[in-house]
Amino acid sequence: MLDKLKALPADKILMLSTLFRADERDTKVDLGVGVYKNAEGHTPIMRAVKAAEKQLWESENTKSYTSLPGDAAFHKAMRDLILGDSVDHARVSACATPGGTGAIHNVFETIQMTKSGATVWLSNPTWANHPSILKHLGMKTATYDYFDEATCAVDFDAMIKSLGDVQKDDVVLLHGCCHNPTGANLNETQWQVVADLLLEKEAIPFIDIAYQGFGDGLDKDSYGTRLLASKFPEMMIAASCSKNFGIYRERCGLVLAISADADAAKITQGSLAYLNRQNFSFPPDHGARLVTMVLTDPALRKDWEEELEAVRTGMLDLRQKLANGLRRETGSDRFGFIAEHRGMFSRLGLTEAQVLRLRDEHAIYMVGDSRINIAGLNDSNVDIIAKAVASVL
Ligand code: LMR
Repeated sequence: MLDKLKALPADKILMLSTLFRADERDTKVDLGVGVYKNAEGHTPIMRAVKAAEKQLWESENTKSYTSLPGDAAFHKAMRDLILGDSVDHARVSACATPGGTGAIHNVFETIQMTKSGATVWLSNPTWANHPSILKHLGMKTATYDYFDEATCAVDFDAMIKSLGDVQKDDVVLLHGCCHNPTGANLNETQWQVVADLLLEKEAIPFIDIAYQGFGDGLDKDSYGTRLLASKFPEMMIAASCSKNFGIYRERCGLVLAISADADAAKITQGSLAYLNRQNFSFPPDHGARLVTMVLTDPALRKDWEEELEAVRTGMLDLRQKLANGLRRETGSDRFGFIAEHRGMFSRLGLTEAQVLRLRDEHAIYMVGDSRINIAGLNDSNVDIIAKAVASVL
C-alpha cells in the first residue's frame, strides 16, 4: 500500500528553514518563515505568556480533557479580541483548533459539509497553504486579482473586477490584516467597497486573521473583519494565536462562525465540534489557556499589549530603514512600498533568479516569490541586505 505513495515536493516556506540551518556562512540572514525574531535573531517567549505559564503551573490541578470545541472562556476572550461588539454574540459559534492552519482546514471542511458546491476564492497571491489544503480536500477554487506586481501595492480595480465573477454562496477568503505574502493591505474605504460588492453577490466572507496587532494595532487590524461581521448574515473566521502571542509550537487557533440567527448558530456550533471530533478529537489546551489568562487578567493583558506594540513599532522602524537603505543604494523610490506595507511580510517584486542569487552569493534567504520576513532584519544587517538586493537588480 505505502509503495503507492508518491514523493511530494517540500513545502516551499518550511524547506527554507532546513536550507538555512545547513548553510555554514556566518553572515547568513533568515528572511524566510513567518516567525518573529528580536534584534538578536531569537524568538522570545512573551513576558505575559511566561508569567501566565508560571501561574498555570502553580494552579492547574488536572490534565483531563476539556470539551470538544475547547474552553468557552478562550472562545469568549478571542471573540472579543477579534470581533468586539460588531455582531450579536448569540450568532457567533466558536471552536478551538490546533493553530490557525487547523482553523482554516476546519472552515474548508465546514464549507464541504454544507454541500453548497461553493467555489472558494483566493487572492492572487495568497499564503501557499490555502490552495494546498483546498487541493488536498478536492474543493473548487478560483483566484481574484489582488497584487500589482509593478507597484507592489493592491491593484484594487483589478480585484473588484475579478470579484465581479463571484457567484451566490461562493466563499471569498480575505486576509483580515497583514496580507501574507505581499504585505499590501486594503484601506478602510476599500474594505467598504469589497463588503458592499460581496453583499450584493450574496457571497460568504471567510477571514483568515493570523497577524492581528502586527499591522496598525490590535483594533485597527480588525477593522475589515468587524465591518464584515456587522453586515453579513453569515461569515467564517480562522484566527491564529501563533504570532501575536508568540506561541507557535503550542498550536493555538480558533474558528469563529457567524450564523444568521442564534438557533442557526447552535447548529453551526455542533458542526464545528463534530469536525474537531472527526479530525483530532480535543483541541490542544495549553496555549489556549495561556491566551485566556493573558487576555482576561488586566495586568497580564497590559503587559502583553505593550510588548506586542513594541514588536509592531520595531518592525515599522525596520521597514523604514530598509526602504531608506534601498533608496540610497538604487537611487530610486522603487522600494518605497516597503515602508507602506504592514505586517510581518513584504513581497519585494524580485525574480526567482534574483532571489536565488541573494541566497547563493549573499546567504540571504527569502521565499522564492521574494517575500521577506521583516522581523529577520535588524540594525546590523539592514544596510547589508539593501546593498545585496541592489547588487542583483
Ligand atoms: C509563514 O507564512 O511563513 C507562516 O505562516 C508559517 C507557515 O506555516 O507557513
